[in-house]
Amino acid sequence: MRAAICPGSFDPPTNGHLNIIERGIRIFDRLIVAVAVNMSKEPIFSAEERAAMLREIFANHPKIEIDFFDGLLAEYARKRKIHRILRGIRTMSDYEYEFQMALANKTLYPELEIIFLMTEGRYTHLSSSIIKDVVRHGGRAAEMIHPLVEQQLRAKLCRKEWA
Ligand code: PNS
Repeated sequence: MRAAICPGSFDPPTNGHLNIIERGIRIFDRLIVAVAVNMSKEPIFSAEERAAMLREIFANHPKIEIDFFDGLLAEYARKRKIHRILRGIRTMSDYEYEFQMALANKTLYPELEIIFLMTEGRYTHLSSSIIKDVVRHGGRAAEMIHPLVEQQLRAKLCRKEWA
């Protein structure tokens, strides 16, 4: 069975993330979407909230498991006995960051293979930070995030109903 881990902050999950996960399950038999508990930036959603959104979105995908990880990704992968990591890449700046992370992870766990999927063009500009900014300032994010994520983000950031 070909299993892979798709790790990330998912604060919140964007349509770009969802697209990488959906394409990932066409490549792998099983995909573990691993939500990072501890992040460099203070998250707006708790790890449980981020995982709950992903669980609801992918409720009908038996090949997808939603899990958490705390600490090093390489240690989590070792513990789960999975040696494939799936990540999406959007831009050259992503590439530099991913390159460093991949090398660090491979140093920590040499059997690990990091597989990258290039984002689809319509998602290149999407990031969780930009989406939070759009919603915080009252903009529509319907093309950027799943309706469930938009509703939760609005509830979190605006605490008022939209027209
Ligand atoms: O969605 P993100 O924020 O780009 O995801 C980054 C993440 C969470 C996958 C990365 O920061 C991570 O793996 N953090 C865990 C700590 C770790 O393993 N660091 C060493 C490798 S850089």
